[in-house]
Amino acid sequence: MFKEDLLKGKRILVTGGGTGLGKTMTRGFLEVGAEVIICGRRKTVVDETAEELMKETGGKVSTYQIDIRNADAIEEMMDDIWQGGPLDSLVNNAAGNFLSRTEDLSSRAFDAIANIVFHGTFYMTNACGKRWIAGGHKGNVLSIVTTWVWNGSAYVVPSAMSKAGVTAMTQGLAVEWGPKGIRLNAIAPGPFPTEGAWARLRPTGSYGDKLPGKGTDQIPLRRDGKHPELANLATFMMADECSYINGEVIAIDGGQWLNSAGNYGQLDQLTDDDWIGIRDQIKSANAQDKLQRG
Ligand code: HXC
Repeated sequence: MFKEDLLKGKRILVTGGGTGLGKTMTRGFLEVGAEVIICGRRKTVVDETAEELMKETGGKVSTYQIDIRNADAIEEMMDDIWQGGPLDSLVNNAAGNFLSRTEDLSSRAFDAIANIVFHGTFYMTNACGKRWIAGGHKGNVLSIVTTWVWNGSAYVVPSAMSKAGVTAMTQGLAVEWGPKGIRLNAIAPGPFPTEGAWARLRPTGSYGDKLPGKGTDQIPLRRDGKHPELANLATFMMADECSYINGEVIAIDGGQWLNSAGNYGQLDQLTDDDWIGIRDQIKSANAQDKLQRG
């Protein structure tokens, strides 16, 4: 759907680019000529993805192992990246989330999500922004949020709060940095199944049947999103040809949120045992990730 060299000459950094939606968008950018840098917490995962996508597309991908909760590490990474020239775009994709009753959350559980989504996204954005401003370079930031920035959502309150904060950042900086040639937008995807999110937001078992969105009845278009559709929107948002878009949040969800505001509200039917089962499943997914991180 795009001309082959649409993003030729662009350097794009994708956080959480090793898996899921980050990997999907990276593939899309490479297919139209961009150079992509991906970062993530697990070195082997980002390296394997880089290998795979370079082979598949013939494009150039480099990698950094980083936890975006660490502002100092971000500064170091940015210094290193800027040695090779300024970035053109940043895609804030890395996130953390899990389904839980809010009263079950410890302060550390809240922080685990807020530190990634709210703090980490700001650290990344400001690290790029100040370098763009100092160097007089144009910049483009695209953040992946969710449709619950508009209506909140039960049972994922730390994520909803943090993503709403990212939306406020997008709108605030679109105005503050617009005059300096930096634009910021966000995409709010509906259900695009990925391993990371589904292990934490779609636990299986008897309670699985009670989860909203198990089928696609709630979605006016009656289907989940297809990954290339998200890549197409992200690619469009990277292109200079549409650079008058600034400060927007664009939903790509088949109309789901208009039909089901409140998201996980139906989960009030789950029992205490259901919630214990959900927590155990999510924690075992987290433990597996940690093992891979070493
Ligand atoms: C209650 C939980 C819990 C659960 C973890 N915790 N899971 N509490 N219920 N299900 C608590 C832990 O007990 C601990 O608190 C604290 O959270 C931190 O846990 P850690 O495992 O040490 O955290 P960490 O290793 O930093 O991992 C961060 C994470 C994890 C967010 C918890 O899920 C992660 O790494 N996620 C990355 C991938 C991801 O989440 N992808 C989905 C993004 S989807 P205590 O007090 O016990 O020490 C998304 C929106 C999608 O963002 C929208 C789709 C429509």
